[in-house]
Order: sequence, then structure tokens, then C-alpha cells
Amino acid sequence: QQPWLRGERPEHVVAYDEQLGFWNVHGHQEIVEVLGDWGRYSSDVTRLFPPTEGALTEGNIIQLDPPEHQKLRRLVSHAFTPKVVADLEHRITELTGELLDDVTGDDFELVRDLAYPLPVIVIAELLGVPSGDRDLFKVWVDRMFESTNQFSLKDDEAKLRQELRDSVEATRPLLDYLGEHAAHCRRAPRPGLLNDLVHAEVDGERLTDAQVVNFAAVLLVAGHLTTTMLLGNTVLALDAHPDQFAKVRRDRALVPAAIEESLRFLTPFAALARVTNEPVTLGGVGIPGNQLVMLWIGAANRDPRRFANPDVLDITRDPNPHLGFGRGVHFCLGAPLARLEGRLALDVLLDRFPRLRTDPDRPPTFLPSPNLTGVQSLPLLTD
Ligand code: HEM
Repeated sequence: QQPWLRGERPEHVVAYDEQLGFWNVHGHQEIVEVLGDWGRYSSDVTRLFPPTEGALTEGNIIQLDPPEHQKLRRLVSHAFTPKVVADLEHRITELTGELLDDVTGDDFELVRDLAYPLPVIVIAELLGVPSGDRDLFKVWVDRMFESTNQFSLKDDEAKLRQELRDSVEATRPLLDYLGEHAAHCRRAPRPGLLNDLVHAEVDGERLTDAQVVNFAAVLLVAGHLTTTMLLGNTVLALDAHPDQFAKVRRDRALVPAAIEESLRFLTPFAALARVTNEPVTLGGVGIPGNQLVMLWIGAANRDPRRFANPDVLDITRDPNPHLGFGRGVHFCLGAPLARLEGRLALDVLLDRFPRLRTDPDRPPTFLPSPNLTGVQSLPLLTD
């Protein structure tokens, strides 16, 4: 468990980790500064690593800087505007209902039964790939995030290369799968974002196959893994704070705020990576150029300089400037969708199961990666 989840604060909000070979940033103000300054803090961390054939780099908007970044982002942003996303409300409510219809009284496991399938079906439908293949996606994506190790730049070159090759191997089945579907779209256009990417043009040119497939993979992975964590974390956090659970049960207008507070309290995507383009000073600390900087947004979301009583879940917190979706040019593209899924799913859960609670005999399990904060399974009692 990460130290901030135990209420511990780092001694320094910006510090070099000798063992791992990069800088850790834990402060809210400092992270906001970095995320607002893409000129000095680049998202292209790939340049720190030896080039690896087949790596998920080309077309990966998370790792691009402006102006290339905006050109790619513009290709799909139309699908994630609040207005377009709001039109999905009916489908998401319907899906949530159907998934919960299959739950049998004494065997409800939130992740398996709702938090995993709901967002993966939604993003597969948006992309235009068969949502029935979701069990395959789960196997592949779980493999991509199964590492329990904190990644280190101090590993020797051979070990680093091997780790990179392993991660390429783990990603390959998903990329091959998307490649096949992209080829179908090329032969016969069909609805969905994958098709839009196949036929899109940037500066008068089509995207390369690798760009299309990598971009779609980012959407598929980013589009469900984090939302799965959000749904699980929200129920877990509310269950651990019965006064807050009672409050949102009484007043459903608090559901959106409960989702925001859950993102602050248990931040799914706990760390973002940047690399310095030049020597910088951050929080009074000098950092040379070409250094990896890890932005621990999970810790920033509990920074007592920014949040009063940061270790207390308070669904009436206002304002709530959490960094759960990042900030600046890379601000989460899917935030309106994730918020809608979170809100609708929590509403339906509260409607269906007024006595929903954790089961002391079947405790939750957690994702192994130190960069992710989320339940892996969450058995619940409903009667
Ligand atoms: C970017 C978190 C749901 C797609 C990000 C970033 C964060 C984040 C922190 C910023 C990355 C950076 O600055 O380096 C989350 C969380 C989610 C969620 C916590 C759910 C609770 C989604 C969904 C989608 C999505 C549903 C749907 C497709 C993306 C994409 C980016 C992104 C494409 C890259 C944007 C860019 O680089 O311009 N997300 N995300 N995310 N997210 Fe999400």
C-alpha cells in the first residue's frame, strides 16, 4: 500500500530516488506547475529508454507533446465531448441494469459483475470492436499491469531491455487484435472510433498502421481499467465511511460529488511520468535536464497544504481540485465518460441494493502495481 494511503507524508515533496534513478514529486502545487508547463516537462518519456521494436510509442497520445499531440487528440475528441457523452446515458443505464439482473443474491462480486464489464463494453462499443471479446481484453490487459515492481532506471541496460521486451510481448496480442479489426475497417468502413482513425487524415496524410493501432489500444486500455477502479474504489470508500454512505443514500444529488471525492481519496491512476527538457527548479529543488519525474497525483490528492483533513472522505468537499484526471493539455479525454459511468452505476447500485456493504468473510483484493490504486475484487452483501 502506498504511504499516503496510510496517512503518511513524505519528508520532501520533491526528492531524487537514488535507488530507482528518478525524481518523485508528491506536492499538489508542484504537480500543477509541471502539468501546466509542457515546454519544460515533456510527456515523451520514451527517449529515456533504448528503442524497442513494437513498443506502444508511435501514435500514443499520452506520450506526445504539442503540436503533434493536439493533431491526434483532435481526431477523437468529438466522441468525448460532454454533449456526445450525455447521449450515452440511456445505454449505460440499460447495461448497468442488465449486468445487475444477472447477479444472484449471495454471490455479488462488484468488479467481476459490474465494474469490469460495464466500462469495457462501453469503450468497445465506442471503438466499434465486439464487446463480446471482453474476456480476452481482460487477460491481455491484466498481463500488461501485472508487475508488482516499482520500475527503476537504475537497472542495468540488459535488464531494462529485457523489461521493455517483456512489456512489448504483453501488449502484442491486443495490438494484433486491433490490427485485424483495423484491416476490416480499411476494406469496408463501419461505425466506431477505430474506423474513424483508419480513415482520418492529419496534415493531408493518413495515420500509419502503428499509429492507428496504438491509439486504439490507449483508448481501450485507458477507457476501462481506470473506470473499473473508480467504481470499485467508490463503493469501498463509502463502505468504510458509513456517515458518508448514509448521506449519499439520503441525497442522490450528492452522487457526482461522491465520485469526485472518490477520485481524490483513492486515485486510480496514481502516477504520471514526465521528462525534463532542460534544468528546472521545482519546489525549490534543482533538477537537471533529461530526468524522469514521477508525479504522484495520488499523494498530491492528499496534500494537507491543499486539502483540509485530506485523509477523511468528505463527499461535500467544495471545491475539490483533485488531480485524478490530470491537468493541462493531457487532461483525461475520457473524463466526461468516466464521470457519467461512475454516476449512473452508483445511482443504480443504490436503487437496487439499499443495504449494500462489504462482506467481512470475503475481504477485497487489490491490484498489484504500485502505480495503480484499485480493488481487483470486491465481494459485497446485498440483503
Ligand atoms: C489521460 C485518468 C478514464 C482516455 C488521462 C490522464 C489521467 C487519466 C490521470 C492524464 C495522463 C497524463 O497527463 O500523462 C483517468 C481516470 C479515469 C479515466 C482516473 C477513470 C476514472 C478514461 C476513459 C477514457 C480515457 C473512460 C476513454 C477513452 C484517456 C486518454 C488520455 C487520458 C485517451 C490521454 C489524453 C492525452 O494525452 O491528451 N486519464 N482516465 N480515460 N485518458 Fe483517462
